Amino acid sequence: MSEQEIRVPDLGGADEVEVIELLVSAGDSVEAEDPILTVETDKASVELPSPGAGKIIKLTVKVGDKVKEGDVVGVIESSGGSDDSVEDSGDEPEAKTEEKPEKKPSSKSQDEPEQSKPAPKKKSGGSRNETVLVPPLDGMENVPVIEINVSEGDTVEADDALVTVESDKASMEIPSPYSGKVVKILVAEGDKLSEGDKLLELTVAEDGGEEDDEQDEAPVDSGQEAKPEPKTGEKAQQKEPTLQSQTSADEPPAPGAKVHAGPAVRKLARELGADMTRIKGSGPKSRILKDDVQAYVKNQLQQAQQGSAVATGSGIPGVKLPDFSQFGDIEKETMSRMMAVTAANMQRSWLNVPHVTQFEDADITDMEAFRKSQKAAGEKKGVKMTPLPFLLKACATALSELPQFNVSLDMERKEVVRKHYIHIGIAVDTPNGLMVPVIRDVDKKGLWELAAESAELAQKARDKKLKPAEMQGACFTITSLGGIGGTAFTPIVNAPEVAILGVSKAAMKPVWDGSEFQPRLLLPLSLSYDHRAVNGADAARFTSLLGQLLGDIRTLLL
Ligand code: COA
Repeated sequence: MSEQEIRVPDLGGADEVEVIELLVSAGDSVEAEDPILTVETDKASVELPSPGAGKIIKLTVKVGDKVKEGDVVGVIESSGGSDDSVEDSGDEPEAKTEEKPEKKPSSKSQDEPEQSKPAPKKKSGGSRNETVLVPPLDGMENVPVIEINVSEGDTVEADDALVTVESDKASMEIPSPYSGKVVKILVAEGDKLSEGDKLLELTVAEDGGEEDDEQDEAPVDSGQEAKPEPKTGEKAQQKEPTLQSQTSADEPPAPGAKVHAGPAVRKLARELGADMTRIKGSGPKSRILKDDVQAYVKNQLQQAQQGSAVATGSGIPGVKLPDFSQFGDIEKETMSRMMAVTAANMQRSWLNVPHVTQFEDADITDMEAFRKSQKAAGEKKGVKMTPLPFLLKACATALSELPQFNVSLDMERKEVVRKHYIHIGIAVDTPNGLMVPVIRDVDKKGLWELAAESAELAQKARDKKLKPAEMQGACFTITSLGGIGGTAFTPIVNAPEVAILGVSKAAMKPVWDGSEFQPRLLLPLSLSYDHRAVNGADAARFTSLLGQLLGDIRTLLL
């Protein structure tokens, strides 16, 4: 074992560079060539590799320090192999480079001839098609495309990133040589590119800063192939691929957005299965650092463990959104908190609960006759009797007769939680979204009491006056769209409840009584249930029982 200094290797001509990220800490074990830290010049991000395998004793620099070739950045206790320090070896570890933007010259210089762009072909006012070719890739060949940063139809500015390629040493974004519109993308993610390969086709407006020639004004395909980066033979003279910075907004970049990160960080994200387009970079120019990846993964794990609202749900990839504005006018509005919470709850229930829906038509002809007969009494009491109290009462009876519906599942502990109370939630449509107040001890209440209480809770929901306690503790939910319409629907179980009754609009239908058709008022019921807790036979029993109870409401008294 011997200690050796870790020194800054040749930086390809760069003088002082800034340390932008420390990739290891004292005590970390590293392999030879593992990246130790990242420095950034105005042209490139460079990962300084470990000179050998061993344990990091200390790092002698911090983020923001400026270092140059030969500076000591740390000390490693090598675990064997070469005892040579970087300085002595004469075989310096190669710095891994992520190319950085070089400022586009404001005027042409002799050092940087305009070889990158084909000879201009059009007068202003017209347009031409250009095929963009892969520029020199710093000596690399067959470099895989890891991201395509534009879509067909996109408008790009000169130097906007078109695609990102990544070798085991560097990732770099290939910039557009022109402002224009992407007509056709000629590569796909995973394709391996080398200098000169065709990347995409651009329509370039002649007003876009190109010199005019003597051609006419009709759009033409110039047949020119444009390399964004002309190869001059000298790396320092190359107009290097431009690395684009991410949004500096607080939000992480949108799915599909381009990312700004070094090869080691990308590798870490790949290993951890983290989608880098969802990670907010905290480094310079929103660069994604190792810490950002780790914090993102930690946060995702915590959310999954707590069962909290994860936008994409259970590790399932999120839906990639196109740029809708390409299809027409749009406007964006932030979701209300209630909508966001409801959306997360729906998704969580939908993803966690294996749903089955059982359908039944209840004959409520007699029930409706009775309900209507109570109209005058209701007016006296100031309470409107709708079908809902009957449904509440019937469900309470069914829940007590089939108690397997009055449970919640604790899958972590492998327990079934049986409830000895019957509280039922009612879904209420409000201008602000869906709310579910809960009526307690439905089995102990009469129809008038249930009518009054459900009307009061529904009004409170619409007036945004419900207290949190009034929305908790339900064993089961009724969602009635009967006042609106529809013949059937499949409601989503309001987990951790295990069943929900959907009610659609009652309609008169001919029913065969054995000798003739009779006009009967049928109420469509849809019972969605959690198939882990309830089997199909029990679900059929539950809806049949509801049918019997609603078909002859005297049985509700038994
Ligand atoms: N079939 C036919 N008519 C029905 C019916 C049914 N299944 N259910 C109710 N009606 C009638 C009522 O009798 C009433 O008619 P009337 O005024 O002639 O007496 C009318 O429809 C309106 O009833 P409503 O005010 O909706 O009362 P309700 O007690 O039936 O329902 C709520 C109360 C709170 C459930 C209801 O207002 C509501 O918000 N429903 C929407 C729930 C929802 O959005 N669910 C979707 C969740 S994803």
